[in-house]
Amino acid sequence: MSDEFAVKRVTAPDIAKRKGGAPIVALTAYHAHTARIIDPYVDFLLVGDSLGMVMHGYETTVPVPLELMIMHAQAVVRGSTRALVVVDMPFGSYEENPSIAFRNAARVLKETGCGAIKLEGGAHMADTIRYLTERGIPVMSHIGMTPQAINTIGSFKPRGRFRSEWAAFEEDARAVAEAGAFAVVLEALAELLAARITKQIAIPTIGIGASAECDGQILVLEDMLGLSPRVPKFVKEYAQIGAGIEAAVKAFAGEVRTRAFPSAEYTYPMCEDAPEVTKKTKMIGS
Ligand code: KIV
Repeated sequence: MSDEFAVKRVTAPDIAKRKGGAPIVALTAYHAHTARIIDPYVDFLLVGDSLGMVMHGYETTVPVPLELMIMHAQAVVRGSTRALVVVDMPFGSYEENPSIAFRNAARVLKETGCGAIKLEGGAHMADTIRYLTERGIPVMSHIGMTPQAINTIGSFKPRGRFRSEWAAFEEDARAVAEAGAFAVVLEALAELLAARITKQIAIPTIGIGASAECDGQILVLEDMLGLSPRVPKFVKEYAQIGAGIEAAVKAFAGEVRTRAFPSAEYTYPMCEDAPEVTKKTKMIGS
């Protein structure tokens, strides 16, 4: 087949080049059929370790084994043809040192055919991010509220709602960008802080409970379809049980591309000066 007709997947460098451009659309996918349905509408599919809670009923993502991530990622790669597939490294598979992280991440790439991995952590993971990217493994970082750290952080509540917390998150974002991450997920961060970080770093920010000013947005598919029993404030339910998945995904993708989502009701204001949001989010939300 000539190059002209080859179906080409979105790559990690393609996503990196979208900094400041048209908003990046992403959703989680854990199995082949949903991957096939949402593939045409998103730029990347995340095989998130949230699958431990959503698919397997764990209370947190901590128990998820690497083998389970590989099995679900294989299904998602088989079910999709064009979106970049990013696979979460589960808790315990990468934190110890860069070479263990490389061994496990290389396994994920080789055994699944995905195009990138994601790992949680900011400045303290910078050496690992550099080690992996220099050796051919594209890394998406994940900062803000990091669910794998639940046993040390104590709750899934949003972060950065007090200005006194900002410097640490800004330093995390700078460190992962400088270490070579091609994008960074900002989860459950105060809206103003997420917008500020987006302006400060040279790689795309992907918001989940963050800001409409992020370079892209992601949600857990089952949450936005209304299938999850409890969802955080930042989740907009685009379909109720039984409604079409494709219609919900189309609506989500359209709202991300026009920055209609997330409006203020799906973001976290500051605590000191409660209703403060960036101009863009306020306009859209009001
Ligand atoms: O595991 C996951 O689904 C994630 C998203 C919430 C970004 O990391």
